[in-house]
Amino acid sequence: MTPIIPTIDNEETRHLDSALRPSKFSDYIGQDTIKNNLHILLTAARERNTPPEHILLYGPPGLGKTTLAHLIAKELNANLKLSSGPAIMKVGDLAAILTNLSPGDILFIDEIHRLNKMIEEVLYPAMESGKLDIVIGKGPAARTIQLDLPPFTLIGATTRMSLLSSPLRSRFSGGVYRLQYYTEDEIAQIVKNSAKVLGAELPQDAAHEIAKRSRFTPRIANYYLKRARDYAQVHKANIDKEVVDTALSMLEIDEFGIGVSERMVLDALVNTFSGGPVGLNTLSAATGEEEDTIEDVTEPYLIQIGMLERTPRGRKATDKAIKYFKK
Ligand SMILES: Nc1ncnc2c1ncn2[C@@H]1O[C@H](COP(=O)(O)OP(=O)(O)O)[C@@H](O)[C@H]1O
Ligand SMILES: [Mg+2]
Repeated sequence: MTPIIPTIDNEETRHLDSALRPSKFSDYIGQDTIKNNLHILLTAARERNTPPEHILLYGPPGLGKTTLAHLIAKELNANLKLSSGPAIMKVGDLAAILTNLSPGDILFIDEIHRLNKMIEEVLYPAMESGKLDIVIGKGPAARTIQLDLPPFTLIGATTRMSLLSSPLRSRFSGGVYRLQYYTEDEIAQIVKNSAKVLGAELPQDAAHEIAKRSRFTPRIANYYLKRARDYAQVHKANIDKEVVDTALSMLEIDEFGIGVSERMVLDALVNTFSGGPVGLNTLSAATGEEEDTIEDVTEPYLIQIGMLERTPRGRKATDKAIKYFKK
């Protein structure tokens, strides 16, 4: 059985996400550069009494993009309207969302790289000048009417910067912010806060043990905390380092934070393809993992820990990855 990879949205992680989402900026750990920049942007906007300019957040899943959008809205006392690229299928869907905004609302569009071209075209004037152009009728009788939209802020989130068209990217005049992986200390702090919310005791060394294996990603760390807590409960034990070790080993997460999916990719790269270079589609075919998952989730972490390199000729295993299989 393959353990559930918690970076993929599923019912359980979504529920856990909202349960453990910090409700104050001060509980949002790390990402200091982004927080400092946002502080200036939000303060200036508040002083001018206008909504801040549009913001784009990008980075691997589970690093805190949606959480930031919630916190920004809260900081501004604004309504947050949530939507996503795949949910906006027709121009009419976007028009309905935009015309339902009230002044000062924040519109969050998750997975914004998945908006299609036609919808992007409608979004540009809305972002730039608050105008919505709607075509009424078809053929020679068609005409365009223009509506004025209330002032609003768009927050876009994406895991795939490379799939975002540059005209769309350039319209995020409030800034494009890349979320970074967290440090071990930051993740340890996040799971300690989460443990408090869950009403569980979590000693320092156990928090660090989770952090070490969490791929430096809060969503994964919170998920592991929950698994450790379940394990402790079933065994009528407290959560300590040993419990964390055992619970995570049962999920086949090793001391590098490498799980089933990472191991499959590494194994193919090192053992099947003699270290590469090998193309993404070949890697996907060899492992049965989707290209998107490899590119969004698996690879960024393997690059981060220095086990994989992206080269113009394809993916290559590093010496560290080769050693990993030798022991
Ligand atoms: N900086 C942070 N401090 C505390 N918790 C965080 C932080 N970033 C993310 N989290 C937690 O991780 C979970 C996933 O974050 P989320 O914002 O949904 O990620 P994303 O939208 O980037 O996929 C949330 O439940 C949140 O509690
Ligand atoms: Mg999100």
